[in-house]
Parts: sequence; C-alpha cells; structure tokens
Amino acid sequence: MQYKDIDTPALLVDLDILEKNLDRMAGYFADKPVDLRPHIKTHKTPAIAQMQIDRGAIGVTCAKLGEAEVMAAGGINGLLIANQIVGAQKVKRLAELALNKDVIVSVDNASNVREIASAARKAGSTVGMVIEIEIGMKRCGVSGKDAVELAKIIRKTKGVEFKGVLGYEGHCVSNQDDDFRTTECHLANERTTRAKRLIEQAGIPVEIVTGGGTGTYDVTGLHDGFTEIEVGSYVFMDHVYHRIRPEFGIALSLLCTVVSRAAGNRGVLDAGLKTFGQGFALPQQKDCPGLKFRGLSEEHGPVLLSGKARDLKIGDRVEIYSGHCCETVNLHERIYGVRKGKVEVEWPIAARGKLA
Ligand SMILES: Cc1ncc(COP(=O)(O)O)c(C=O)c1O
Repeated sequence: MQYKDIDTPALLVDLDILEKNLDRMAGYFADKPVDLRPHIKTHKTPAIAQMQIDRGAIGVTCAKLGEAEVMAAGGINGLLIANQIVGAQKVKRLAELALNKDVIVSVDNASNVREIASAARKAGSTVGMVIEIEIGMKRCGVSGKDAVELAKIIRKTKGVEFKGVLGYEGHCVSNQDDDFRTTECHLANERTTRAKRLIEQAGIPVEIVTGGGTGTYDVTGLHDGFTEIEVGSYVFMDHVYHRIRPEFGIALSLLCTVVSRAAGNRGVLDAGLKTFGQGFALPQQKDCPGLKFRGLSEEHGPVLLSGKARDLKIGDRVEIYSGHCCETVNLHERIYGVRKGKVEVEWPIAARGKLA
C-alpha cells in the first residue's frame, strides 16, 4: 500500500526518522554510566518499546498502570510507573502485575506505601518503590528530609522494596532558552541528588536516581548521581519540541484530507481538536508550504492558504505535524509506519486511552 492510499485522518510515523532518533539517543548514552528507561507515554506501542529495549534500554517508564499492563502483555519488563497508584482496585492490579514482572512505582505518601504493601502481601508479590522528590514543579513529591522518613517506612514494610528516588524537572524541560533550561535543570536535579545523599546518610542504599526529559537528556544525563533517564518525546517529536531539540527529527505526522475550499484563501482539513489534541501550539504543515492553521474546531481543521497551497482541491491529501506528539498519539487507534512512501507496518497503539 502507498501511504497516500490510507483513509484519513491517519497517524503516520516515518520509520527512517524514528530509527535515527532511537539510535541517536541510545548512542548518546552508550558510553555513559546512565541507563535509559524511556517513557512510553509518547508512543504507547509495545513494538516501539521493544525497539528501545533492543537498543539497550533497561525497561520502560509509564505514567499509568494500564500502560504498564499493556507493556507487560507485549513482553516488556523493567516497568517503572512514574505516577502514584492509589485506590483498592488499582493497587490490587499493581500487586498482580508485580507477580510476573519487575515493577517499580512512584510514591510520596506513607498511607499509599501501606496500601500497596498490603495488596502485594495478599498477591504474594513485591512491588519496588521510588520516592518522588519535589524539585520545583510543585506537582507530586516530598522534600529530601521527608524522603528519608518515607524510605525508612518502606524499608520496614513487607511487600515493598525501596529502590531510590525520582525527580522530574518538568518545569524546565521545554524552556526555549538553552542556558536557562540548563541552569534550572541542574538546580532541580541537585534537589533530587541531595535527597539521595540524605537517604544514604541514614544508612539506606539508593539504587535508582531517575528523571530527565527530551529537552534535558544531556543535562540530567550528565548530572552526577543520576542512574537512569526517562526521555519520551524524542522518538516521535513535534514541531514545538523540535525547536529546542533539532537533533531529533519529527517522525510523526497526520495524513489529512482537504474537505472544503470555502474561499480562495481558505480550506478545511478533516482533523480538528479530537484528532490532534489541544497541543502546545497549533499543528503545522509538513509537505504543503503556504498552509497555515487558523485554529481547531472539534472535527474541523480550518486553514489559510497562500502561494502554491491555494492550488489545493477537495480530496487532496496533506501531511501535518502535531503541536504535541504525546497528546495526538493518545487519540488514535493505530499508527502506520512509512518508509519512502510505502506503508511497511501497521501498529495498534495498544496503550492509547489507558487512563486508569
Ligand atoms: C515523569 C516524567 N518523566 C519524563 C518525562 C519526559 O518526557 P519528554 O521526553 O517527553 O520531555 C515526562 C513527561 O511528561 C514525565 O512526566
């Protein structure tokens, strides 16, 4: 099949660019004392996780328990869930997942530690734990001092195992100013490694120190004390992230059809908010210079056309870059892997919509 024959709107990944991105990140860390445990929130696809493992990743990072279950079913091990898993139904599933896979979950609260431990004891499994450290994002996480107390509780509790600390510098990963991003990132990471040192001073070994994103992989990845990095977006990229990380190509695009040409300089594509997501910016043309988004309705992509783009006719296909790759992928059931104009593979996005 030629990719232009696919019905639209359809998510495409350029396999040459995807492989280059995977190789570049793996190559960067190949000679460094830091492992890659890439975040699968971007692709949500076991086959791509396997490509990361094949290039040396020690496992994958997930946001949701449901994502981790999909990865496990796809044969992926070494599952780090970077979010807190709370509530009777979920901790039971978590404990059962840990029966057959190495599972590590992020915690920042003693009651949650006890809840998970009790489920793990019932299931007969052991759940690994990293303590999330608050490093400036003001989302989840505790201070270094509180982390010491929490580490002591985890160590005393049967059914769970203390593994280390997680500090995600989400407030600086995508800052456009390279110097600011680097400085802020080191400051944030210092809070993570300070927590590590405090825990070690209390006589507790710290095996894992994790954090990092695509915008900061070469800052956090070199920060003394980190043992692994959780980069996600580098596999696909979008036109927003690409501005600060041009070394990773934009592999992801949406194939769309022109469905209306209401006026000489106006058109409408068959993809709106429900196809792209909100994004950090409006989508951008890939192969149609002169096409510019005016906004996004639920199911309409209204565009302004200038120059050659004014030749577009009803039924023509155009490729569009997302304004936030992770959000766009989550809205789709499958992704077509394309190489030199031909569809080479079709992957179900098995963990899409796994919100629980
Ligand atoms: C906990 C965590 N780790 C790592 C990342 C890195 O993501 P990216 O590489 O897309 O910046 C994210 C992004 O949301 C995250 O939430």
